[in-house]
Amino acid sequence: MKIPPEKQAWPLPEEDYWSTPFAEILMHHLELFPGASVLDVACGHGVPAFHIAEQVGPTGQALGVDMHPGQVLRCRATQKHHLPWLRFEQADMRALPADLEKFDRITGNLAFMFFRPERHQALKRLTGFLKPGGQIVLTFPCLGTFDSIWQRVDREMASRGLNKEQEALAEYIAERPSSEQARQWLEELAMEQIEVSEWPLEIKSGPGQAFLNHPLLRGGFLEDAYECFEDQALAHEVMNAVADDLSNFTPLLAQRCALSAWRPEE
Ligand SMILES: C[S@@+](CC[C@H](N)C(=O)[O-])C[C@H]1O[C@@H](n2cnc3c(N)ncnc32)[C@H](O)[C@@H]1O
Repeated sequence: MKIPPEKQAWPLPEEDYWSTPFAEILMHHLELFPGASVLDVACGHGVPAFHIAEQVGPTGQALGVDMHPGQVLRCRATQKHHLPWLRFEQADMRALPADLEKFDRITGNLAFMFFRPERHQALKRLTGFLKPGGQIVLTFPCLGTFDSIWQRVDREMASRGLNKEQEALAEYIAERPSSEQARQWLEELAMEQIEVSEWPLEIKSGPGQAFLNHPLLRGGFLEDAYECFEDQALAHEVMNAVADDLSNFTPLLAQRCALSAWRPEE
């Protein structure tokens, strides 16, 4: 039973062009009920913790955790006196205190990529905080995200004979989590009703500086390409050449992956 959009005081923010499209697929999979207890990991600035807390209502409970104290303070400042059954705490989602309560639902929007380096272990630990019969839903940009960019960067590196940088890029690409790997881990954890879905999201950008400074690409994605270079002046040269050639590697597609699974009843 969902609160209809026109009655929601805490809808997913329309102007958030990254978190909201991922939160939408999270909400698509999440089965909520009034009175549910929910843990939202890597809650950031509160997407989708506020939205979920409103849905579970005053008989429910919601806890948002983030590793960075600034994010927790930001959430508390947004919350003020609203939704008193929602609280925010600073915690590392990979190492939550063993005496933390168990939840009906665990969510993490744009969270799974931060489970590294031991993603499998982190997932196992986190599912341990689910009540029997509880559901976990996580979203992340999976393998395939912005592949056209990585292929173009790789070609630029190859044409300049930058073997070391190419190797570093290949390592980065291989390290990214795939939806199939995630499914396998959930199966190994004996979770039930596992659903893994991928939803493409096109990011629009102009060439040159518009591409290099695009808020959704810089910091998190393009940054990783720069990190493949020891020589940052060379990195700028290569990335500028790539950015000027944008029309040859569009569309820019992120793959939104949603994982949903249920802990077996005991
Ligand atoms: C991409 S944001 C996602 C935030 C929010 N859920 C959203 O959809 O906008 C990632 C957040 O994960 C937090 N984070 C990263 N690693 C974490 C960890 N190990 N434990 C808890 N939070 C973490 C960061 O501080 C950041 O606020």
